[in-house]
Amino acid sequence: MGADENVRARVEWLRKEIRKHNYHYYVLNAPLISDYEYDQLLRELQALEAEYPGLVTPDSPTQRIGAEPVEAFERVPHPAPMLSLSNAYNDEEVRAWYERIVKLDPRVREAEFVVEPKLDGLTVVLHYEQGLFVRGATRGDGEVGEDITANLRTVRSLPLRIPLDPEKPPAPSRLVVRGEAIIFLKDFEELNRRLEEAGERTYVNPRNTAAGSLRQLDPALAASRPIRLFCYAIVEAEGEVPRTQWEVLQRLRALGFPVVDDVSLEKDLEGVLAAYRRWLERRETLPYEADGVVIKINDLALSESLGVVGKGPRGAIAYKFPAQVVTTQLLDIGLNIGRTGVITPYAILEPVEVGGVTVRQATLHNFDYIAEKDIRVGDRVYIKRAGDVIPYVIGPVAEARKGDEKPFRHPERCPACGERLEKLEGEVAVYCVNAACPAQLVRNIEHFASRGAMDIEGLGIKVAELLVREGLVRDVADLYRLKKEDLLSLEGFGEKRAENLVSAIQATKDRPLSRLITALGIRNVGATVAAELARNFVSLERLAQASREELESIEGIGPIVAQAILDWFASPANRRILEKLAEYGVQPQEETSAAAEGPLAGMTFVLTGTLPTLTRQEAAELITRHGGRVASSVSRRTTYVVVGDSPGSKARRAEELGVSKLDEVGLRALIEGRSEPAS
Ligand code: IVH
Repeated sequence: MGADENVRARVEWLRKEIRKHNYHYYVLNAPLISDYEYDQLLRELQALEAEYPGLVTPDSPTQRIGAEPVEAFERVPHPAPMLSLSNAYNDEEVRAWYERIVKLDPRVREAEFVVEPKLDGLTVVLHYEQGLFVRGATRGDGEVGEDITANLRTVRSLPLRIPLDPEKPPAPSRLVVRGEAIIFLKDFEELNRRLEEAGERTYVNPRNTAAGSLRQLDPALAASRPIRLFCYAIVEAEGEVPRTQWEVLQRLRALGFPVVDDVSLEKDLEGVLAAYRRWLERRETLPYEADGVVIKINDLALSESLGVVGKGPRGAIAYKFPAQVVTTQLLDIGLNIGRTGVITPYAILEPVEVGGVTVRQATLHNFDYIAEKDIRVGDRVYIKRAGDVIPYVIGPVAEARKGDEKPFRHPERCPACGERLEKLEGEVAVYCVNAACPAQLVRNIEHFASRGAMDIEGLGIKVAELLVREGLVRDVADLYRLKKEDLLSLEGFGEKRAENLVSAIQATKDRPLSRLITALGIRNVGATVAAELARNFVSLERLAQASREELESIEGIGPIVAQAILDWFASPANRRILEKLAEYGVQPQEETSAAAEGPLAGMTFVLTGTLPTLTRQEAAELITRHGGRVASSVSRRTTYVVVGDSPGSKARRAEELGVSKLDEVGLRALIEGRSEPAS
């Protein structure tokens, strides 16, 4: 089928919109629309491209994912050597560097400097031809890198086409840009939390994660990692190039590249040292890891004329922050039991100061990590702490060993309930197999009551522990049966506190369905998936009966999540929890798309049969775009069943329930507000 002009125009428009929103979201960090609205745009584009493959172009926003894994990386020679930097560790070393280059060229005394954060990630070299991203490479040995184009295409803040705004002057016909691929601290924590919950290996630090994800062979994996990009240099360009580093940054930004926004231009060396101190003060609150600042002579010709010494240009230097790594004694290894039963080891440390904070505990990731690093109880260990991220043990100080350190013995039984521990095929995590394990129950209750879930005020882990220890709660549903009198015997509970907790719990009986789904703690089901499930299934009963196909037909739900949902609802213990919740009067609010606007707001549609001009997907998108919701099965809450040729049982079901029916013409009329179609 050929694409007509309307389709072509729509595709162009969608791409432009999506690029614009990518830019606002990933580069400017200031989104203009909700994730949901963004998703709708992307889905519509995907649907159109699926239908008209001839319209797919390599710079389409849909082309970031989907490339096949490669056997090995090709080698990419760099157009110019990718140098690195010499380091300075204190003001004296920076002054000494300055005096050296002043001696070489007295003009340096008048020179200005740009001060940028030194991002701790993986250097990438990006090639653009006629404005299109054609190749991306690692630094490699500085002369030749590895071709990681497919992985880099998945990085959302990397422009696949420049300039972003077609109205702007065109990009140079050939442009090579250097930048750093990094992962933000909060994204890193979130990623590790997800991996831990899924029983997968967690990553050690953001830098390794970014580098590792971009240097592995499957682009799908890179796509699932929250990698960001910041650019700071033009390596090569056809035509005129900026004469200062400051202009380079402006130029890159104007072309649509992400550039760190709080770089500064300093008049002299004292300004540079003051800028360093400002960065040092902000270090703790930066969203990313920076291991120092980079000081660059602004005048690029002057900088270049100073030449290279060793591995770095003379015209720039890295002024490193003091290390956030310290050593301390590993007193013991504790075990933490997650709500899915995953057991994770953590380090109990001789308290130590790192960057103004006293650290007593640190993560050890998993048992394999302890074995790989040969970490022993009693060892002196290196600890690293960055931002608010949980500190981690880097490894032992092998030279400090005295001989009485004890190799860690893998636990065979759950420290909380004494049950057998199990390691699942293909996972690093060790699980407690006891579904009734009290430690898991405590975590489950904590999660159930947490702010992103049912949001029960006054119910944190301490109270959860008391409730479980006293046998007052055997599953989360029991919370709703608690009476004031039950709580009075608990440590720290008087009349008032008991009363408050009971009413706080009771007040959550009609929380929105998406919150209840989140609260159940199904593996791999976080708030976003829960919202999608609530939107599609409308009730917990319906969700409990969902088939694999129904689940997998929902955007964002693949086989792994679908399986986790099926498993959860298949468990008799969980079924019992659902029964009890209903019995105790927990009636979640249905999720009407209150937020949605448009002529179809508040209406739920079910599609059946073949429509004359719309595919199923297009019809669904048309409906959601105008504020409506599409459900997969007919219930009394269905507003309209949209019926096409050879409809299935859904049309019959509509008749049985007295739900109105509509054809495509009627649907369009409804959207245009022409008439209320008859059923
Ligand atoms: S300029 C010729 N600027 O630090 C000098 N590098 O040890 C080119 N880095 O490999 C580097 N942030 O990966 C420069 N704002 C920044 C940087 C930066 C991080 C990395 C870069 C380089 C290493 C130097």
